This record gives sequence, structure tokens and C-alpha cells, in this order.
Amino acid sequence: MTTPDSKTLREYDRTYVWHPFTQMRDWEAEDPIVIERGEGSYLIDTDGNRYLDGVASIWTNVHGHCRAEINEALKQQIDRLEHSTLLGLASDRSAILAKRLVEIAPPGLRKVFYSDNGSTAVEIAIKMAFQYHRHKQGSATAKTKFITFRNAYHGDTIGAVSVGGIDLFHGVFRPLLFPTIQAPSPYCYRCESGGTGDENCKRFCLQELERLMETHREETAGLVIEPVMQCAGGMVLQPPGFVKKVRELCDRHGILMIADEVAVGFGRTGSLFACEREGVTPDLMALSKGLTAGYLPLAATLATQEIYDAFLGEYHELKTFFHGHTFTGNPIACAAALASLDLFEQDRLLETLVPKITYLEKRFRTLAQLDHVGNTRQAGMIGGIELVLDKETKTPYPWEERVGVRVCSEARQHGLFLRPLGNVIVVFPPLSVSLEELGYLMDGIEESIRKVTEQ
Ligand SMILES: Cc1ncc(COP(=O)(O)O)c(C=O)c1O
Repeated sequence: MTTPDSKTLREYDRTYVWHPFTQMRDWEAEDPIVIERGEGSYLIDTDGNRYLDGVASIWTNVHGHCRAEINEALKQQIDRLEHSTLLGLASDRSAILAKRLVEIAPPGLRKVFYSDNGSTAVEIAIKMAFQYHRHKQGSATAKTKFITFRNAYHGDTIGAVSVGGIDLFHGVFRPLLFPTIQAPSPYCYRCESGGTGDENCKRFCLQELERLMETHREETAGLVIEPVMQCAGGMVLQPPGFVKKVRELCDRHGILMIADEVAVGFGRTGSLFACEREGVTPDLMALSKGLTAGYLPLAATLATQEIYDAFLGEYHELKTFFHGHTFTGNPIACAAALASLDLFEQDRLLETLVPKITYLEKRFRTLAQLDHVGNTRQAGMIGGIELVLDKETKTPYPWEERVGVRVCSEARQHGLFLRPLGNVIVVFPPLSVSLEELGYLMDGIEESIRKVTEQ
């Protein structure tokens, strides 16, 4: 098959492709970059331009693009088997991967249920938590609700949107959603209490969470949290100790803790899983994105033995978990995940992150001095830079000004691909990024912020 030239490809895209989270009228007016290749930290377009992938292809890429070892594992797997179902059959790759995931997950998570994206991994956790209580307490159980956090993002399917809390994305779908009990987001820079300081914010949010749990414990099946950092909500960092305290509160009130590690899992925060940072084992944990190092759609919902056991019964008791997707446990995707886990070990990836995390800390401290940088937030290799119109008053730029988009467009001139979250500039490179590349990324970001906000 011959590939058409860049101009024709742009035309095809404009004519036929409907892009996610995109106002298509704006898109149609643009000349999009068409990516055709990847190499390490770089994406390369059809005209040969190179862009450092500053958002790891939407927070997925771990070891760089087109990593030879993963490519090889995929080629070998394709020659053995492309797909077979997990409905009625087991498969070698999915069995081996499940074992390895249980070995590396926070202790106590023992069973792996596969699906194919982050939203479904979260939906599955919600359905498991809901059904678990029905098995434990009978179908009349009042435990049918979920505690969620404002500003949370757990994906775009209806269940995942229901437990989300970003009105800009979710407001229009409100009539379709199931209601949840919403707790304040520990967004210390803009704490709902109106007070200042991380400790104050932490105290307020936890007190409020505890109050909600006390009021609603009889009807609450589970709590859903993005541990350590609410990512899509603007890289909002939780104060240290927050996740641990949430775990304690869940235990005290008989509420299952669902950790959505879709974005923060697989080394992003500097430890393999974010929950580990606070020594927490959730009851259910959702994984995707970095699971295959950004190669293929695969997700997993991990559960404790206790949850799994509640689903065991006589056939006629109908305790089965009636959920499954066509490509559940796809062997090619599982092969990519296994090759990625090998590379974590072979490259000693977590150890190599230490100097890069320290470097980012330094750069964020400098960035925080800029006139229009209100707040910088960092969890390991993830960063958010919140731009404000007025630093004193924390007045945000009006969203219609699209200051984040403008900074990211400017960054293209510096050979960077970035994607903002409103007024927050996101730093989320492949974990394999070199120190030199990181310097290049942060220089480009700083210059772009200056250019857009100081002119
Ligand atoms: C924390 C979190 N959960 C779930 C999702 C949804 O994942 P997916 O887009 O693969 O459905 C995302 C996506 O960004 C996410 O950041």
C-alpha cells in the first residue's frame, strides 16, 4: 500500500476523522501535524519534523517509542497467536501477565480482571464493589452509592463519568449519570475551605470526607480516588498522608477503596504504583495506559482475595461477575505488557528516575518565580504548571483566552508536543527520557510560557 503525501493525509483527516475532546470547527481550520513514526522520546511527522513527546502520547509511553525489545516481543507473539477469547479459554500470555502483576502490585491484590482501556477498568471496579456488597449483605443492601472527589476524572464511559467530577467535561451528560456523594478535592492552591496552606487543606478535606462517610456509610459501597494526583483535573497533587488517611477512613466505615492508577501507575510518580508511596493497598485497583508501555489498549482491574471470594458460589446462586469484553486479555497486548515489565527490570527504570525527578524539582522551583505561574505541582515524573492572570489574587486566565493552548502551540516552534489541561501546562514525558531531553523540554516550556504570558 502506498502512503499518500502529507497534504493528502491532512485532507483525509479533515474529511473523515472526528477527533476526541476537540472542537472540530477549530480543527478543520488548522493544518494538523500528521505523525508517521516514533523514535525514543520523539514523534516524527510526514514532513520529517521531530517533536519531543512531552505528554508521552497521552500519558502512556514508558520506554520510548518503537523500543526494539517490545517490538520484537510483539512480532514473536503475532507469529504465534493474535487473539483468542478468555470466555471459556485461558491463554499463556494473560496467565503469565496476571501472575506478574500480582507479584508487583501492592500486597493483598490477588486477582486480575482484564479489559481494554482505563474507563472500563474503573467501571469494572465500580460494578465489582456494587455486586460485592450484594453478595455479602443480600440484594436488599443499601450499599449502592459511591463517594467520589470533585475535580476527579476516571474516563468517558457513563459509569466512569458518573464517578468523575469535572463539570466542563461531564456537565452535559448529567441526566444520564448515576448520582454520587462528592467530597472536596484536595486542591491546596485553591482550597474549597478558602484557607491557605497544604496542611489546612488536608485537614479540611479529610474532615469533610469523614463527615460524608459518617452520614452515608450505610448506603456507600465504595470510594473512588486517583491516588496522589488528580491528573486530568489539572495535575492536582494531594498533600502527603492523604491517601493513607483515606484508606483508614474507608476501613473504619466499611467502604471499599477503589484506586484508579490508570494515569499514575507504572512508575510515573517515582514508585511503581502511587499507592505504594503511602504503604496503601486498595481493595480494587484500575490499571491501563502504562501497562503496555503505551503500545496497545489493555487494562486490568486488580482485586483482593476477599472480593474475589464473595463472587464464588453455586451456579444457580448467580454470583458470577457478568462482565467481559471481546478483546479481554488480548495476547498481543499482554505480550507488550510483559516485555515492558522486563524492561523496568533490565533498565532499572525506577532508579534512573531519581536524578530526573530532582532535575524537574529544580526547574519547577524556577518556573514558580515567573509572573504568571501561580502554582507548580509535581509527583515524580508528572508535573503541572498552573498559569494565572494575577498571581497575587490567583485570578485565572479566562478559559476563552485558551492560554494553555497558546503556550502549547508556541512550544511546537521549539520542537515539543504538549497538550494542556485548561490553564495548566502538563509535563508528562516518557519515563525513558534522557536528562538532556528533559532540559530541552523544560527550556522550551519556560520560553513558551514567557512568550505567551509576558508579551
Ligand atoms: C485517572 C484516569 N482514569 C481513567 C482514565 C480513562 O482511561 P481511557 O482513556 O483509557 O479510557 C484516564 C484517562 O486519562 C485517567 O487519567
